[in-house]
Amino acid sequence: MEKQVVPLLEEAGINCDQIRNKKRRLIFDSTTQPYEFILAKGPDVTTFLERGAADIGIVGSDILTEHQSTQYELLDLDIGKCQFVLASTEAFDPDEPRRKIIGTKYPNITKRYFDKLGQDVEIIKIEGSVELAPLTGLADAIVDITETGTTIRENNLKIYDYLDKVSTRLVVNRMSLKQHPSEIYNFVDNLSAAIQMNNDREIAQ
Ligand code: PRP
Repeated sequence: MEKQVVPLLEEAGINCDQIRNKKRRLIFDSTTQPYEFILAKGPDVTTFLERGAADIGIVGSDILTEHQSTQYELLDLDIGKCQFVLASTEAFDPDEPRRKIIGTKYPNITKRYFDKLGQDVEIIKIEGSVELAPLTGLADAIVDITETGTTIRENNLKIYDYLDKVSTRLVVNRMSLKQHPSEIYNFVDNLSAAIQMNNDREIAQ
């Protein structure tokens, strides 16, 4: 996500030289602008915001939905687009009337999906390379995000259902918004203009 977000931030007039030369550093004070940048893993972004350790977060909607984040969502950056899918091997039968085992990085989203279908499933939380679960017999199927579809295809898996779409969002700590409204809205306006320019460029190509 960082690779896609940094050019957008630069387009919005934010100097990202420090991030571009970050090496192994994770936190940067802008020398020219009133920003401090924190590089965190997606699932931790909501924690930083909820605990007030950051004012603004940029994170995938998959994580916001999974964590049922109560932070204030102000922008869809229109990048990092992917989709949740139910996938498994060719042998999987989604209509088979038995309690299925589902592997996923997203247990809450998975539970809500199967609850809606009226199906009680066993959910196994997997931290990465979720596609391994049906291939090894660990699970009957997976709920995971797919972007290009390559991982699913190259592992001979098949998509059985499409769930929610995902994209990168800008979220704000509600307290920070009350304390620094003009700084935050100014930042959001500049980023919003950069997103628009990015989209216009894509349409023109
Ligand atoms: C995500 C997802 C899939 C892959 C899909 O994994 O869990 O494995 O990307 O992308 P594709 O459709 O473009 O092939 P991620 O790269 O986040 O790594 P992980 O599996 O280690 O979590």
